[in-house]
Amino acid sequence: MIIAIDGPAASGKGTLGRRIAEILGYHYLDTGLLYRALARDLMAGDIDFDDETAVVCAARKLDVDGLGDPGLRAPGIGEAASIVAKNMHARNALLEFQREFAAQSPGAVLDGRDIGTIVCPEARVKIFVTASPEERARRRHLELEQSNSQLSFNDVLQDIERRDKRDRGRTVAPLVRSEDAHLLETTDLDIETALNAALAIIRDETGRSDL
Ligand code: C5P
Repeated sequence: MIIAIDGPAASGKGTLGRRIAEILGYHYLDTGLLYRALARDLMAGDIDFDDETAVVCAARKLDVDGLGDPGLRAPGIGEAASIVAKNMHARNALLEFQREFAAQSPGAVLDGRDIGTIVCPEARVKIFVTASPEERARRRHLELEQSNSQLSFNDVLQDIERRDKRDRGRTVAPLVRSEDAHLLETTDLDIETALNAALAIIRDETGRSDL
């Protein structure tokens, strides 16, 4: 069974996805890390993001076992990732890996921007997680403070708003709620309440009474 969780930057979809996968005993993939790792590799190799051949080559060579690198979480990488993510060829090169990951037994939870629409339109459960830009910036800023970042709240809010605009406005696989996705608005919810709401959706959709 596949569970697709989409939503804008810092909406909490990653935390929810990881926790849901733990509870269900499923595999979990934060697909944003693929775009982040690709952006990091392109910058390290001084490769132009518009150089189609080189971008596809880098995407095919991506070290998917190294996605745990904490450096991938840096705000500058998120910005670069959203620029490379506009490239259709880069997206296509990452598609097969995501689909193979999703097909694993006993099931998989994937989070991103286009999981319910493009990567796994057949997903059994789709959840679209949102929160206001200010609340998302507040959460991300708090996280960054804990890792000694000097970024101000306004810097973080601007980064989020810029990426939202780019992710929603791009022509390929834009960030959009799939018609059959459940909306989970978390602005006023703490993580445990949001998790319970997500589990209730999964329970209703799948009939798993143990959740
Ligand atoms: O989720 P995260 O913020 O780490 O993603 C970084 C960037 O990667 C996003 O801003 C988005 O442009 C891109 N992305 C995407 N499709 C996905 C996951 C992430 O385009 N499935």
